[in-house]
Amino acid sequence: MVMALRVKAGMWLARPWQCLHSRRALGTTAAPAPKTPQPFEAIPQYSRNKWLKMLQILREQGQENLHLEMNQAFQELGPIFRYNIGRTQIVSVMLPEDAEKLLRVESKHPHRMHLEPWVAHRERRGLRRGVFLLNGPEWRFNRLRLNPNVLSPEAVQKFVPMVDTVARDFVQNMKKRVFQNTRGSLTMDIQQGLFNYTIEASNFALFGERLGLLGYDLSPGSLKFIHALHSMFKSTTQLLFLPKSLTRWTSNRVWKEHFDAWDTISEYANRCIWKVHQELRIGSPQTYSGIVAELISQEALPLDAIKANSMELTAGSVDTTAIPLVMTLFELARNPDVQQALRQESLAAEASIAANPQRLKSELPLLQAALKETLRLYPVGSFLERILSSDLVLQNYHVPAGTLVLFYLYSMGRNPAVFPRPERYMPQRWLERKRTFQHLAFGFGVRQCLGRRLAEVEMLLLLHHVLKSFHVETLRQEDVQMVYRFVLMPSSSPLLTFRLAS
Ligand code: HEM
Repeated sequence: MVMALRVKAGMWLARPWQCLHSRRALGTTAAPAPKTPQPFEAIPQYSRNKWLKMLQILREQGQENLHLEMNQAFQELGPIFRYNIGRTQIVSVMLPEDAEKLLRVESKHPHRMHLEPWVAHRERRGLRRGVFLLNGPEWRFNRLRLNPNVLSPEAVQKFVPMVDTVARDFVQNMKKRVFQNTRGSLTMDIQQGLFNYTIEASNFALFGERLGLLGYDLSPGSLKFIHALHSMFKSTTQLLFLPKSLTRWTSNRVWKEHFDAWDTISEYANRCIWKVHQELRIGSPQTYSGIVAELISQEALPLDAIKANSMELTAGSVDTTAIPLVMTLFELARNPDVQQALRQESLAAEASIAANPQRLKSELPLLQAALKETLRLYPVGSFLERILSSDLVLQNYHVPAGTLVLFYLYSMGRNPAVFPRPERYMPQRWLERKRTFQHLAFGFGVRQCLGRRLAEVEMLLLLHHVLKSFHVETLRQEDVQMVYRFVLMPSSSPLLTFRLAS
């Protein structure tokens, strides 16, 4: 039995998608879904030794293989399974039809679990929470005031030219570095560079200020801020899975790191907001100067609520957007035909987009499909979560209100019944037919990602400019291993070579 499981786990790790064979019968041991509605207790139960798991999390400082573990559980138990953490009942699902049902029963205030390490910081420092950490009417109040300035098409129109400037500067810098290299190419681990690009672009769109992160010489202040962002994410994973009553004793140092990191991010957001505030009081600018300036000048929310949301927008805008960029460039490097098709699209659209960057989306359908394809294989948030506000039937099992439902994006994206040949990188599949409830990387419904449009614009513009200027190559053909560190990220960044396109 142990041996059989080990062999199976080995196969899963090597080729996770080969293990999900059909929509209903996921693997050999999975029970078929019942034909008539069954009670909650009949949902297959996922069992693990709670104490061993805790020890493992403490030893490994997180759960880097969470997505693979859950994938294996779907393989063994079928497309729905349940377990408890303390008194919380958790149900895990992964088929598009279940996401659709979750959306249909959603209330006016979709509810997510609260993220304990982040909330602990806000409570200790007496700070307000932003939409990421709020639930209920206060969430809705904030969210409805943020949407028009962050997510609406009108807001996007305004910040596209700002992001475009940053994307062009990034590519100009790369070109400079290629010219300095005698081989006429640039070989690099691009992750840190893209991380800096996303901070620079988001910061410009949010606060209307350039930080100068694209060059070599970063100021000590910028380095401290970048370090704080890394440290905040790393310590979040180390604290996330264990109760605070335990980590208070076992992970004192990590709590300190976590609070220090948030303090730096908070001071940074504060400084940016006060600068914008002062400048607006001295005189209102004639032109658009970023999302936060709009929120302040419209008095959309009290200043401390704008600050709370700015902290979350700043934190939410970094790894999330840089990782799909890294993984898209890697997939294009090992799929040169796809890369060539995208380059042709970008070159054909160049004049139109240069004249009006707002045409970005309508002019680059294949590039948009490539981003969906990247997020299918490498969803940054490996699962979505909702606490049910009313009873629901999922896979013919009754699930009561109050249950925490986790929807596993990673498992859906690699299920051959949903995406035939899931191991292949094929952007075209998104253009061939409508795929309802299959592109969920940004969540769904009124609680979907607030920064979605900013993220899309940052990714599209960067890739558009890179593809026009460079061929991207790699020697690496094997898959990149992903690890769960609050966001799903590559365990090591692939080495890429950029050669000037003639
Ligand atoms: C590729 C990039 C990104 C991905 C894949 C992503 C994904 C997500 C997901 C899955 C959620 C939860 C949605 C739900 O529960 O239905 C979320 C929420 C959120 N994201 Fe993003 N995100 C990205 C970029 C960004 C950026 C750039 C920002 C900020 C500028 C941002 C800010 C937020 C905020 C504030 C929330 C909480 C929204 C709420 O609860 O009302 N995200 N994101």
